[in-house]
Amino acid sequence: MTAIGFNRFFHKTAALDSTPSQALTPVKEAAIVATHINMLYRNGSEEFKALQDVNLRVKAGEVHLLMGPSGSGKTTLLSILAGLLTPTAGQVCLLGEEITKFSRSRLAAFRLQSLGFIFQGFNLFPALTACENVEVAFHLKGIQGPQARHQSIELLTQVGLADRAHHRPQDLSGGQKQRVAIARALAGDPQIIMADEPTAALDSHNGYAVIELLRELAKTGGRTVLIVTHDPRILDIADRVTDLEDGKIVPH
Ligand SMILES: Nc1ncnc2c1ncn2[C@@H]1O[C@H](COP(=O)(O)OP(=O)(O)OP(=O)(O)O)[C@@H](O)[C@H]1O
Ligand SMILES: [Mg+2]
Repeated sequence: MTAIGFNRFFHKTAALDSTPSQALTPVKEAAIVATHINMLYRNGSEEFKALQDVNLRVKAGEVHLLMGPSGSGKTTLLSILAGLLTPTAGQVCLLGEEITKFSRSRLAAFRLQSLGFIFQGFNLFPALTACENVEVAFHLKGIQGPQARHQSIELLTQVGLADRAHHRPQDLSGGQKQRVAIARALAGDPQIIMADEPTAALDSHNGYAVIELLRELAKTGGRTVLIVTHDPRILDIADRVTDLEDGKIVPH
């Protein structure tokens, strides 16, 4: 792993070390811990080793990038870390809880409460407005009616989209759609945000707006942000970078 923005990272660590009474517990310090992750895809008699003995540790409050060539296993790893895919072997701990041991229902509840996931293709409902797309996430978390509407508008305002709240995805630019997807991932204020190629479809202006937003998420509220990307512009906001190649972490 490479330390990017080392000074920022160092100061944060040093500040914690100098105030032992407020020091984070080891559990909180590592928001994401993956140990000996292996993933074997099977299609009929064919087998493909997508991940081989991957170990990863992401500290709470850091922006961590997962980079690597196409086919190196980034989406597979992110999906496993998010509990969307079960690894063939290995453990994943999020916020100190071993999610790979959870039942389906416990995992679903944990994901709803603690994890916001931003998909590469936005994954918005085309028939719903921006606001309704965010409201759906609140409904899933048990928040209904005017409260869900009010909080959705608040989140859309936070991502700079208050004036587009009642437009459908087809009437929004790529960057605006991505910001709706980010607002939706923020519903319920999860501690961990994961994003798969959040700027891939965006032009330079929209790409920077989304990058700035992701930086803000980590810096305000101490959220942990894990981003899969090919985009070198995101390096500017990263605390750490992990490189994957052929399903393995590249040692630095
Ligand atoms: N369901 C599947 N069945 C079989 N092989 C798969 C499956 N999903 C992914 N793979 C293979 O696993 C490898 C890793 O795929 P993955 O999608 O994780 O790569 P990636 O690093 O995200 O690539 P990209 O940058 O192109 O999105 C690839 O060789 C891919 O073909
Ligand atoms: Mg991918």
